Amino acid sequence: MPSDTIDNLLHESRRFPPDPEFAANAVAGPDLYEDARRDRLAFWANQSRELLHWHKPFTRTLDWSNPPFAKWFNDGELNVAYNCLDRHVLAGNGDRVALHWEGEPGDTRTITYAELTADVKRAANLLTSLGIREGDRVAIYLPMIPEAVVAMLAVARIGAIHSVVFGGFSAESLRSRIDDANAKLVITADGGYRKGSVFPLKPAVDAALADGGTDVRKVLVVRRGGNDVDWVEGRDLWWHEELPQVDADHEAKPFAAEHPLYILYTSGTTGKPKGIVHTSGGYLTQAAYTHKYVFDLHPETDVYWCSADVGWVTGHTYVVYGPLANGATQVLYEGTPEYPKPGRWWELIEKYRVSIFYTAPTAIRSFMKQGRQIPQGRDLSSLRVLGSVGEPINPEAWIWYREVIGGNRTPVVDTWWQTETGAIMISALPGVTTLKPGSAQVPLPGISVDVVSDAGVPVGADEGGLLVITEPWPSMLRGIWGDPERYQETYWSKFGDKYFAGDGARRDKDGDIWLMGRVDDVMNVSGHRLSTAEIESALVAHPFVAEAAVVGASDETTGQAVVAFVIIKRSHRDQAAAVDVNAELRSHVARQIGAIARPRDIYIVEELPKTRSGKIMRRLLRDTAEGRPVGDTTTLADTTVMAIITEKLAGGVASSED
Ligand code: WTA
Repeated sequence: MPSDTIDNLLHESRRFPPDPEFAANAVAGPDLYEDARRDRLAFWANQSRELLHWHKPFTRTLDWSNPPFAKWFNDGELNVAYNCLDRHVLAGNGDRVALHWEGEPGDTRTITYAELTADVKRAANLLTSLGIREGDRVAIYLPMIPEAVVAMLAVARIGAIHSVVFGGFSAESLRSRIDDANAKLVITADGGYRKGSVFPLKPAVDAALADGGTDVRKVLVVRRGGNDVDWVEGRDLWWHEELPQVDADHEAKPFAAEHPLYILYTSGTTGKPKGIVHTSGGYLTQAAYTHKYVFDLHPETDVYWCSADVGWVTGHTYVVYGPLANGATQVLYEGTPEYPKPGRWWELIEKYRVSIFYTAPTAIRSFMKQGRQIPQGRDLSSLRVLGSVGEPINPEAWIWYREVIGGNRTPVVDTWWQTETGAIMISALPGVTTLKPGSAQVPLPGISVDVVSDAGVPVGADEGGLLVITEPWPSMLRGIWGDPERYQETYWSKFGDKYFAGDGARRDKDGDIWLMGRVDDVMNVSGHRLSTAEIESALVAHPFVAEAAVVGASDETTGQAVVAFVIIKRSHRDQAAAVDVNAELRSHVARQIGAIARPRDIYIVEELPKTRSGKIMRRLLRDTAEGRPVGDTTTLADTTVMAIITEKLAGGVASSED
């Protein structure tokens, strides 16, 4: 966590009690906690019945007879897309705006619930006409355009399973995700806008499919960038040419509550991303519940905006499923905060009168650097709730967010959750909780967490430990696609009956939880999860590289940054010396995985610090990368290695910035 040390955190004493007027109109009240405490399962059953439309009502709430494989609302049936669309139209809200979309160049589209429903119906018919059936996997590789939402909901509507791949990922990353899920269809665009120019997407799909060795038979292409694209006859189809040819009407059939809704790949501690599987009824229940209570949603009047890309879980739950299940009006923005000049986000908040805004600490910290004049030049008075997600928010950023963006009025909710948890797990409730900057505070009503020692014993107040979830929850992952053993091993082998989140945490004397970052080899860069092992394998795949070790070093803006230590093969030293090897390796990683994984710094070293059993001691490399004195080196096979590395780094042989 930048700027604020753990000591500072523990002395953070500012408190923000709920404003009485806000509390009087808040959707959440203290009774929510009492209801959940009284009967947790009845609480979830009631939430689900209240928030969703069940084609066939469920009679059983939770089946946990075969842990860790949970079944929620198992005998019920519903259609997720119907819940996000048709029922709002049938309830008379078809004219309500679902999406205020704004493209980066400034083009806009306003899409009502009736229009979105019509678009999804046609798209569902198109998918069926292309041979997509219940349970088939569809890869979606799109920019932040309305078609991304339409594509996801159309897949859900026919009971197929989407696997959305973030548009910033490389062709190789896309290919490995297509292969792992055996996707039959890819939905992409020619390109999208970013920082003033078109970034092409279709060429990455072409490259991913070039050898023909996948199950993909068709590629649907949305025209967005207007850039030239290559065309594979018989495989590629334009979205805008196909849609008018299919039926406009489509009836949403119900599917079982545990029918898979999507796979979303996320980084773990090994080189291979995990396909996290979410199902329908439980996921949508918790998505809708958290979106309503954590953001104090009043769907008739609020304008909500979550700045996440649909390629990440935050985009799945808080751009698509949560807000649409709740009939919310939201802003969807294609581009970056800085285009055409800093302050674009504040301009959008002013323009659309956004009242609820949800973003990541890394963005807030970069706005802090630019100064408060930029947001202060805009009318942000429509805002009434602010949210944060993705990494710990340091108290200074929290206070700045509340003061400068929230005009010193708005509650700020820091929400802790993961791709695996599917929806928010720990957060304050606006209007109810007295807020504490820097702490995610308490588990939501219906959620049970604890902080335990390595041996699984709950730790005392203010003692550090590991965050665990002690009871199954509706939107929990149902597994890792194609790998039930890895699911058990990763999350359930450490403590048996408790879900191991991989985060360090402490609970203070009031019972509030402070997240302390990952305890495994997963990094958090700008709120995005990256695996050290995945970047190391990308580096050693380069012909120059003999060995590589990657660490996440703390960074003022991005939370953590990727720092790599690399040994060049003897046989390639002359070749490496002839080029800018740092630049070469940095762009190699970007090509292999995607630009988000590009190392901030690369250090060429002669040796890596290893234990006698050959394990790389990343902790020592992190000390060096963060400019701290190197810790205990006595377990190293060669204790001089760190001294040599540190000396070399101090000599300024390092690094590169774009
Ligand atoms: C971290 C993103 C502290 C955490 C929704 C978790 C957080 C990982 C917070 C999941 C928060 C997310 N405070 N840390 N409010 N929110 N994290 O899967 O380390 O991309 O394990 O899901 O992000 O990242 P993921």
